[in-house]
Amino acid sequence: MEKKVSPHSLAVHAGDRKRPSGDQPAWVPVTTPIHTAASYFYNDMEDLDRVFGNEMPGQSYGRYGNPTSDALQELVTTLEGGGGALACATGMAAIHMALSTALIDRRRSIVASHQLYGATLGMLAKVFEPSGVEVAYVDFCDEPAVAAAIEKQRPGAVLMETASNPLLRVPALDRIGALSRAADVPLIVDNTFTTPLIIRPFEHGASFVVHSLTKYLSGHGDVMGGIVVANEENLAPLRALSRTVGFVLGPFECYLAMRGIKTFPLRMERQCANARKVAEWLATQPEVERVYFPAEPNHPDAANVKRLFACGLYGAMVSFEVKGADRDAIFRMMNALRLIVPATSLGDVHSMMLYPAMASHRDIAPKHRARLGIHDNLVRLSVGIEAVEDIIADLDQALQA
Ligand SMILES: Cc1ncc(COP(=O)(O)O)c(C=O)c1O
Repeated sequence: MEKKVSPHSLAVHAGDRKRPSGDQPAWVPVTTPIHTAASYFYNDMEDLDRVFGNEMPGQSYGRYGNPTSDALQELVTTLEGGGGALACATGMAAIHMALSTALIDRRRSIVASHQLYGATLGMLAKVFEPSGVEVAYVDFCDEPAVAAAIEKQRPGAVLMETASNPLLRVPALDRIGALSRAADVPLIVDNTFTTPLIIRPFEHGASFVVHSLTKYLSGHGDVMGGIVVANEENLAPLRALSRTVGFVLGPFECYLAMRGIKTFPLRMERQCANARKVAEWLATQPEVERVYFPAEPNHPDAANVKRLFACGLYGAMVSFEVKGADRDAIFRMMNALRLIVPATSLGDVHSMMLYPAMASHRDIAPKHRARLGIHDNLVRLSVGIEAVEDIIADLDQALQA
């Protein structure tokens, strides 16, 4: 579909309504069905042979592809503007696939942002490093440091998030994209927090864009999934690797993700608007020490925010520190929540609050956590689609607790 079409329209149309071919009746399903078949046959073996040999489009075996996952992949590819995609079992599987594909025939070295989702840092430390991959952790908001690391390491991949979890630092994706391009290194961007409604990393030089589909894209807290979108150049190796390792997402989950994505732009706009109001309110509360939100006036990366969040939406994640609170006080506040759900995950229609020291960044040593700025009085709020005054009222009464 044309790039100019709004994401609101793409989200409800792309990938769907495939016309049957050959001798099938000429009906067209209005939405993509859940195709559960594990394998496929043709009227003659020559066709199956051509499909196996990638000489003819089609299906052969569920690990290689499935019409429901194809539709979801086409939809997310269209939204992100890449060459093609691979739906994976989870967001972590998607990050693993992107890194593994990037490192094929390249130097076994990664330059990674030191502010990544805790499990991503864990995967680098517990899976990639022990298998001989050198990982340089760099402050990605320090551009000269990123440039120096790329120059020194000559890595096989560069890995970053558009907005860091949970402190919402915003690295200069456009400049890091240019640096990676100049050094001929694939840049992998986790766009889970910002989604293609706000930032499209391929426009800034990314080679792979990954998502936890579990979050904003699916949006209802009822499906786990991930997706890697690759540019044209990296699509064939991504697909070839997937055929071998088989981290693919099942058809039921693909269906749920696709169903969720249809309303993702609507939800996201509402969530972003709510988050902005919540962040502004939190900044005026005496119990609140500090608010972390890309649109806050003193944001340390304000210049990057201005360039990269040009659409005027700033995401729907707000983190904040509660003045003088320790773990017990944070637990008291979270136990007092009535509307906001005190649970792990983000991006759902309902607001959720998470305690990073206990959940997303639990496996990081407390001293290292503190160095990263993730203190014991910090909570992360994923703002949902509820009426904003109800979210604020719930925060107000919980802060009093
Ligand atoms: C930014 C980010 N990337 C990736 C993931 C991993 O996604 P999943 O839980 O679907 O494996 C998460 C999960 O919270 C995340 O926040």
